[in-house]
Amino acid sequence: MANSKYEYVKKFEEDDRLPPSNWIVVRIDGCHFHRFSAEHEFEKPNDEKALNLMNACALAMLEQFSDIVFAYGVSDEYSFIWKETTVFYQRRASKMLSLCVSYFTSMYVSKWKDFFPHKELKGPPYFDGRVVCYPKSKIIRDYLAWRQVDCHINNQYNTCFWMLVKSGKTEKEAQEFLKGTQAKDKNELLFQQFGINYDKLPQIFRKGSSVYREKVENIVKVDGNGNPVRRMQSEVVVDHMDIIGPKFWSEHPYILKEE
Ligand code: GTP
Ligand code: MG
Repeated sequence: MANSKYEYVKKFEEDDRLPPSNWIVVRIDGCHFHRFSAEHEFEKPNDEKALNLMNACALAMLEQFSDIVFAYGVSDEYSFIWKETTVFYQRRASKMLSLCVSYFTSMYVSKWKDFFPHKELKGPPYFDGRVVCYPKSKIIRDYLAWRQVDCHINNQYNTCFWMLVKSGKTEKEAQEFLKGTQAKDKNELLFQQFGINYDKLPQIFRKGSSVYREKVENIVKVDGNGNPVRRMQSEVVVDHMDIIGPKFWSEHPYILKEE
């Protein structure tokens, strides 16, 4: 078919295909969630239901897109790791990014009522996103460690901050009080003043959430003699383990295996 005289406009489109043999990280982050969380009266510093809603959306993402090998979430953000060999949408950055943002947002809205059956969604939740390529799985591990360290630092600070506020200090006073304190001081404060052992707080708050495929042995049928037939299958799971040390990665070598 002959091209119309308008076809030339396509030449203005940029080729935004990401380089081959790179792991692709798409990180999305809730826009104005400070306000969104206040409007919906999320618990402070952590609202377990809100976090589990984020996790359910990430789980749906891994179930939908098999080239996402791992996801890590904390607060209003989630990182999705696409395997280095993916040819999804020809690795076009704008397509991959917009797809992650829209699929996640859509899930967030549709699952809202499952987690907050008695709270109406007041304004539209929306997310921004970015794409970064990393050429080695070692750097992906460092990337994830960076996010988990951030989770820890923020959670420790926020736990102290809200305990001080709940005990009568103004937000300004609490902020001043915590200025310059080290991790050790904060743990001490929580323990001495509030009887909280930081290490005993729920893992989901301290470690964030990881979503990945776990290999599980399932009984798929019963044979003619009544014996169960087992098969290894993979199942998308959510967990809150440490991802900085080597243990998890040596137990799950297939997740970041380089080809
Ligand atoms: P932009 O991302 O720049 O649009 O700003 P933001 O308001 O979303 O802030 P940011 O992404 O830096 O931080 C996330 C914010 O979400 C936190 O500062 C909290 O105010 C809020 N938030 C996230 N998770 C929770 C939660 O579990 N409970 C409560 N109360 N607030 C939360
Ligand atoms: Mg945000």
